[in-house]
Amino acid sequence: MANEETTRSVDAVRPRRLDLPVVARHPLGHGFLRLSLDAPPDWLSLPGQFINVLCESDMAALAASEGRDAEVEADWPRATGIELIRRWPVVRRPFSVSRVGTMADVASPGRVAHEVGRMRLEILVRAVGTGSRFLHSRPVGSLLNAVGPLGNHFAPPQDDRLCILVGGGCGVAPIFGLADHLADLGKPCLCFFGAKDAGDMPVTYRRTPEPTGSRIAPTEVVEEFAEDDIPAVLATEDGSAGFRGMVTDALEAYLRDAWKGEPLALFGCGPTAMLKALGAVAARHGLPCQMSLERFMGCGIGVCLSCAAKRRDPSSEKGWTYRLTCRDGPVVDAADMIWD
Ligand SMILES: Cc1cc2nc3c(=O)[nH]c(=O)nc-3n(C[C@H](O)[C@H](O)[C@H](O)COP(=O)(O)OP(=O)(O)OC[C@H]3O[C@@H](n4cnc5c(N)ncnc54)[C@H](O)[C@@H]3O)c2cc1C
Ligand code: FES
Repeated sequence: MANEETTRSVDAVRPRRLDLPVVARHPLGHGFLRLSLDAPPDWLSLPGQFINVLCESDMAALAASEGRDAEVEADWPRATGIELIRRWPVVRRPFSVSRVGTMADVASPGRVAHEVGRMRLEILVRAVGTGSRFLHSRPVGSLLNAVGPLGNHFAPPQDDRLCILVGGGCGVAPIFGLADHLADLGKPCLCFFGAKDAGDMPVTYRRTPEPTGSRIAPTEVVEEFAEDDIPAVLATEDGSAGFRGMVTDALEAYLRDAWKGEPLALFGCGPTAMLKALGAVAARHGLPCQMSLERFMGCGIGVCLSCAAKRRDPSSEKGWTYRLTCRDGPVVDAADMIWD
């Protein structure tokens, strides 16, 4: 019941534009940075939802962090496009709300004073371009201008079936908040977490994870999941930690060797190729599967149409329609996806 009430309250929230102070920074290697943000006490969001962040202020600081002089860039193209003239992303960049907690939970280095009762949002940022590098340059105490919460969210199962959370590579951010949420609701969970190698996982290890070859071995070694008493199966492409292979191969091996046919629910977040493979596993085994998509986004609120993706639609003549990932997503039912 509390679950349904929370969902109703979150669905009624209108997105706001907020200046969110950075209260802690936690670099995780391989270009990942966890940023903790101070949010108002009435912040409400559920796993899967995202914020759209302005990455344009204080570009001099960004240029300096990259060893450039923002004022002296004579070779910059003389064009009229506003992004070229202003040299920074005008369009906001979407980032999943990775975890939500209270300020008392902020335990990372660089912690600053805060008001009691305020909320803490965590975002996980992988540096891939100008906007994400700008976020990497943000010091504790600076403000991030963000619009949110945006998009829909994962829906927990109504019964007590085992929830299998599958995450890999970039795009993995929502899995941490989803694990927290399902654990709070008392749902049994098992995580499958994949990356290229042991160092490529944006997590904190309690101890060095062991390679297990072709064996599926749930472990408590990942702090973020162990906090919720959720075992995790690690999978790495080079075999340096856990199962050797793709995370979806590890899931397939688990379903083949350990699953007794009891009801399961699959949840996925990660790169498109992983989601596509996960959708295929779910279809092969007849399992329900929700997944969080990443598409290029502009407005984040259903206006610019830049995030359209094909979804099955039996009511349409063609059998499919375009749906907006920012508004009718980012969480989708895997069975509705048309991957092309
Ligand atoms: C709903 C949603 C949630 C997201 N959550 C996170 C998150 O939690 N953490 C995180 O690090 N990133 C997340 N992303 C991706 C993030 O928005 C992009 O990486 C970011 O916009 C890149 O901006 P940039 O200016 O740094 O890079 P750009 O200079 O704009 O692009 C650099 C490179 O990244 C690629 N790229 C840009 N945007 C995307 C995208 N949306 N999907 C895939 N590739 C992209 C470009 O093709 C290019 O190769 C999310 C995207 C969506 C749609
Ligand atoms: S991002 Fe503009 S319509 Fe979806």
